[in-house]
Amino acid sequence: MLAVEFHEFYYRYPAARPNEAAPYALRGIELEVEVGEFVALMGHTGAGKSTLCMAMNGLVPQATGGAVRGVQRVLGHEARAVPVARLARQVGLVFQDPESQLFSPSVEQEVAFGPENLGLSVDAIADRVDWALDMLDLQPLRKRGPTQLSGGQKQRVAIAAALAMQPEMLILDEPTSGLDPLGTAEVFAAIERLCAEREMTVVLATQEAEQVAQSAHRVVVMSEGSILLDAPPVTAFMQPELLAQAGVAPPQVSLVAAALKERGIVVPAFHRLDEAEKALRGLWQHPHG
Ligand SMILES: Nc1ncnc2c1ncn2[C@@H]1O[C@H](COP(=O)(O)OP(=O)(O)O)[C@@H](O)[C@H]1O
Ligand SMILES: [Mg+2]
Repeated sequence: MLAVEFHEFYYRYPAARPNEAAPYALRGIELEVEVGEFVALMGHTGAGKSTLCMAMNGLVPQATGGAVRGVQRVLGHEARAVPVARLARQVGLVFQDPESQLFSPSVEQEVAFGPENLGLSVDAIADRVDWALDMLDLQPLRKRGPTQLSGGQKQRVAIAAALAMQPEMLILDEPTSGLDPLGTAEVFAAIERLCAEREMTVVLATQEAEQVAQSAHRVVVMSEGSILLDAPPVTAFMQPELLAQAGVAPPQVSLVAAALKERGIVVPAFHRLDEAEKALRGLWQHPHG
């Protein structure tokens, strides 16, 4: 089954002034995401990543207004025909800034907030909170106040809060852009775990090519509202010119792989450090192979 299905999808925000039309923020989007897939959305600022993320849970166009056309199907629903609040139960959304998403006095209350609003029993709420805290490795922090947490911990709480709704799909819009490398690694480890253990469908807008190379199944590169490239990381990151055009910096090992290829040196494709090491060792041992 497809989790996301966009076909000839166009969207523009409401015009800033009357008698003017805003340019298309999304133009001609063709995108299918399978259930259980982990897709990274990349591209320069203004490329349309956030707009596409919001189109995946119906906020675009239901909350944003503007003009829209084309197929916009999410988890089998026509995203424009289902209320956002209904879709939000199945599609969790995590934003860039964890501060703006946390408002409860403690981690556990934050994570309980969503399930409480579903009208579940006290036991069912407690189960969901425990499960979400376990998944994000937050049990030791459950009594803490959000102000006592690091950026990475806060973002993990935001993800746990989304997860406690037991969504089928998680959309994260640049969740690590304000985090230090340790916080970034923490958040990616959590996402990887969700994909592996829960077969969660994940769409992640991010600039973190190194982390994407490690864990994403697919890279979708956007530029000016369109999809420029859609391929597994090993192929996508081997196209430095196209990526440069889209303002995406590939992982350093991919630059090495691309440089070898350009010089006609044949090695097994790699996009991760461990694979690179293997490929380069092979080259060393069989220099004419
Ligand atoms: N609320 C809004 N109203 C009007 N235009 C917007 C709004 N949000 C974003 N845009 C425009 O839509 C385009 C895509 O933006 P966005 O989806 O935020 O890109 P990204 O997340 O890749 O930086 C940009 O040209 C941006 O200026
Ligand atoms: Mg954005």
